[in-house]
Amino acid sequence: MTTADALGPEVRNGALAKGCVMSSSFNVRKAAGYEQLMGRWSRKLAGPFIDFAGLANGERVLDVGCGTGSLTFALPQAAEVSEVAAIDYSPVFVEEAQRRNRDPRITITQGDACAIPLPDGRFDRAMALLVLHFVPEADKAVAEMRRVVRPGGVVAAAVWDHLGGMPGMRMMWDTLAAQDEEARRMRSLYCFQPMMRPGEMRQTFITQGLSNVEETELLIRMEYENFADYWEPIAAGEGPLGKYVAGLDPARRAQADEAVRAAYEAGQPDGPRSFAAVAWACRGVVPGPS
Ligand SMILES: C[S@@+](CC[C@H](N)C(=O)[O-])C[C@H]1O[C@@H](n2cnc3c(N)ncnc32)[C@H](O)[C@@H]1O
Repeated sequence: MTTADALGPEVRNGALAKGCVMSSSFNVRKAAGYEQLMGRWSRKLAGPFIDFAGLANGERVLDVGCGTGSLTFALPQAAEVSEVAAIDYSPVFVEEAQRRNRDPRITITQGDACAIPLPDGRFDRAMALLVLHFVPEADKAVAEMRRVVRPGGVVAAAVWDHLGGMPGMRMMWDTLAAQDEEARRMRSLYCFQPMMRPGEMRQTFITQGLSNVEETELLIRMEYENFADYWEPIAAGEGPLGKYVAGLDPARRAQADEAVRAAYEAGQPDGPRSFAAVAWACRGVVPGPS
């Protein structure tokens, strides 16, 4: 039976499973905007994340919170998997990922990480890349990932370290926070999203009954061609910071653009810049006889 068969008819048809309680703090504007803001970097992070989570030929893998498919499409490139099931809360992303999919082993459907519409023990691995920090009840999502993985299989997740590991993004927030109380309030929310504190994901995995739990850091670099490449998605209103910037009056907005540009350029002519970006990653094994 394929995952498409295992899904209920509401889910197969792109609607949500009955009784599914939705839970996400993620705001989607446009799939293309997401790609420029984050998708290009999550694609880069997918490789090191798969190396950490592990993957073997023949496995069935679940990608929870697949977005536009950065991890989904990287999985069959990394091993001869037998099946990739991908779910996401956002219909905009599900539609975009479905549009991109050319691989019959991949099924992409709408679903909530906190009520995964799939049977117990179906997968060898469940992975969530840059998702748990948008799930207010992230522990429920981890419990659900554990439920759908067979004994001996692996649950793995990664979230950005917004507070200490993202200098390129922090630079925008810090610059704007220096100008305005509302930006200071939002920066605090940004820096302390769920699962971002050191050891927090590890503790959650242990509490949810996973064994051999390990937490590590994964590093990529975010490479920008110039200031426009860096600021464009935010300037277009993407993500929480983009939403904030879009709400500024014209005078404040011009001030914000100028201040962030100055921070990006750092006294040198506009041009390429490279920023380190660190994610916390955690994995654990589902206990029981495999
Ligand atoms: C930063 S994006 C990451 C997307 C993709 N994994 C990647 O790495 O590019 C966060 C994703 O989590 C999804 N998400 C947030 N809460 C969710 C939930 N409760 N159930 C399923 N997906 C959720 C969002 O819709 C969004 O696609």
